[in-house]
Amino acid sequence: MNIALIGYGKMGKEVAAEALARNHHISLTVDVDNRHELTPENLKKCDVAIEFTSPHTAAGNIRRCLAAGIPVVCGSTGWLEQLEDVKRECEERKGAFFYASNYSVGVNIFLRINKMLAAMMNFAGAYRPSMEEVHHTEKKDAPSGTAVTLAEAMMSELKLLKKWVNQASDTEDVLPVVSLRKPGVCGTHTVKYESDVDYITLSHVAKNRKGFALGAVLAAEFIRGKQGCFGMNDLMGNF
Ligand SMILES: NC(=O)c1ccc[n+]([C@@H]2O[C@H](COP(=O)([O-])OP(=O)(O)OC[C@H]3O[C@@H](n4cnc5c(N)ncnc54)[C@H](O)[C@@H]3O)[C@@H](O)[C@H]2O)c1
Repeated sequence: MNIALIGYGKMGKEVAAEALARNHHISLTVDVDNRHELTPENLKKCDVAIEFTSPHTAAGNIRRCLAAGIPVVCGSTGWLEQLEDVKRECEERKGAFFYASNYSVGVNIFLRINKMLAAMMNFAGAYRPSMEEVHHTEKKDAPSGTAVTLAEAMMSELKLLKKWVNQASDTEDVLPVVSLRKPGVCGTHTVKYESDVDYITLSHVAKNRKGFALGAVLAAEFIRGKQGCFGMNDLMGNF
């Protein structure tokens, strides 16, 4: 495939390496300094675009790809309030759009176990749920997109919970999601259920960014030639 890379930072570089390893070609690389090159003419030379930029630039970049008729895979997080509008635009244009707050296969297995565990914990009233996520210091959004996905799943399963907050909390019906920023951490998420006598933890630790990059390239291969809005459940199916 001929791939347009939008954003050539930490993730863009990892995606390029994974794409080349899978015999794809990077036909267009756009970062802040040459963003004027994100034109319909340049995009039309590509089969698919992969976007990893920032919370403020993601939606605009996706719209440009949809307007040019190019399928787009987006990994940027922190812009969820515009997601439904972007999906609507994709449907109207009969385009193709893939979004995941986390492209790692391991994290997506972890997400499913989190939901199952939350459903089980409904029947174990003595346990207080909480979450912690740790990322590198340059991360622009908090909590992470993955932490939001984990929290929303816990909210939907745990009848006790009324809301989640991005800070420590002792309130019974509130899920505390604590965000920590430490140098060099690619992404660690831990869900904890604590009682007076014990605790259960469920953790995912990313050792590097390769897992995210491979998932994004697999999503690009999956979305080519398709129409509609897709996510990791479409890519991974029922396992
Ligand atoms: N979905 C996932 O699996 C996943 C995994 C890791 C990171 N992320 C997210 O991906 C995004 C990028 O992460 P990163 O670690 O690569 O960040 P980064 O800061 O290292 O790279 C972002 C790059 O985008 C460029 N950029 C900014 N505005 C642009 C624009 N308008 N057009 C083109 N390029 C532009 C920046 O110059 C920079 O090079 C973040 O939102 C992060 O949270 C998602």
